[in-house]
Amino acid sequence: MTPLAPGKTLGILGGGQLGRLIAEAAKSLGYRTAALDAAKDSPALQVVDVPVVGGVDDPEAAKRLAAASDLLTLEWELISPAALNAAASLKPLFPAPAVLAIIADRLTQKNFLKKNGFPQTEYGEAASANDLPYYPVIVKRRRHGYDGKGQARMNSAADAHNTDIFAASCVWEKLVSFNKEISVILARGRGGEIAVYPVAENLHRNGILHATRAPAEISPDVAARAEKIARSAAEALGHVGVMAVEMFLLPDGELLVNEIAPRVHNSGHYTLGGCATSQFEQHARAVCGLPLGSTAMKGPAVMVNLLGDLWTNGTPDWSALDGVQGLTLLQYGKASARPGRKMAHYTVVGAAAADEWRRADERLAALGRGPKRS
Ligand SMILES: Nc1ncnc2c1ncn2[C@@H]1O[C@H](COP(=O)(O)OP(=O)(O)O)[C@@H](O)[C@H]1O
Ligand SMILES: [Mg+2]
Repeated sequence: MTPLAPGKTLGILGGGQLGRLIAEAAKSLGYRTAALDAAKDSPALQVVDVPVVGGVDDPEAAKRLAAASDLLTLEWELISPAALNAAASLKPLFPAPAVLAIIADRLTQKNFLKKNGFPQTEYGEAASANDLPYYPVIVKRRRHGYDGKGQARMNSAADAHNTDIFAASCVWEKLVSFNKEISVILARGRGGEIAVYPVAENLHRNGILHATRAPAEISPDVAARAEKIARSAAEALGHVGVMAVEMFLLPDGELLVNEIAPRVHNSGHYTLGGCATSQFEQHARAVCGLPLGSTAMKGPAVMVNLLGDLWTNGTPDWSALDGVQGLTLLQYGKASARPGRKMAHYTVVGAAAADEWRRADERLAALGRGPKRS
């Protein structure tokens, strides 16, 4: 298949911040863009050439996006197979629905990892509390979980009998006492070529990504093993586009795969400004069939997520970000803030990054104090 020619339209299933940033990158490569979302004021629909309003799980809406596009991609994996297949029946879609089918269900994803020999924590299927092997244990819904939603830690049988999590089918996972969480972001092109970014180190709070730094503070040996795992996973899946592999680093140096996201990822936001090619441009390059760009870092980078909680006292006091060398604030254009909703992030690239990693909480406290009063 030939590369998508400049001036052609890349259509994106999903209209959130990830779709918006893919669209902006695609535009900078000379493409027209389209995106599908139920909300016409969603982050991506604000910036694309052809906004398509409709449910991302609705096959008819997916077909309307396909009709307006020459090539299709997606911003995340939790899209109904019916919509994916409808879109893919009209225009090429990368990554392929078959890749998404493996990943979108935690059980099939874990079975895929097991079959291919990737290390992961103990797990099993759980339809009810009776299926849990021991406590404490983590229970996750098989489908539609993200940002820590759809999962719960069960400390006892009482917990497990007092939850509505089993209203949908679940998996259980052994709790991992990790030293660090890391992720590998890579892109795999249509021809199988792979470009890997420096390993990122992640801090989560309440199951939501809080901050990322890259390169991760890990040994070269751990970094090399993490990269190898991520490459093999992309190859085993036959993935095309950017993908992220989240891993736990254990005290003895062992790595376990936590989960795979077959798309651009929050822990790769540092590449925007932090690397020669952002993950969003890289994704557009991979799916459009262009050569992949350099993943070299411009300097050490830190990314901090700004969640809706920071808006409790009104618009954050943005002056709290003033005067930090190499700092960039990126807002996603969401009209309303809710606790836990990803509203914006900032990155610090260069010499100030190391300090920012330690000072992020101080910065968030200052931002959250609300608008500066005169
Ligand atoms: N088995 C586990 N042991 C310890 N912590 C876990 C485990 N599973 C998840 N977590 C924590 O919860 C976070 C979110 O879980 P994850 O499976 O990545 O779901 P999501 O799709 O919401 O990102 C992880 O980044 C990690 O901090
Ligand atoms: Mg995760």
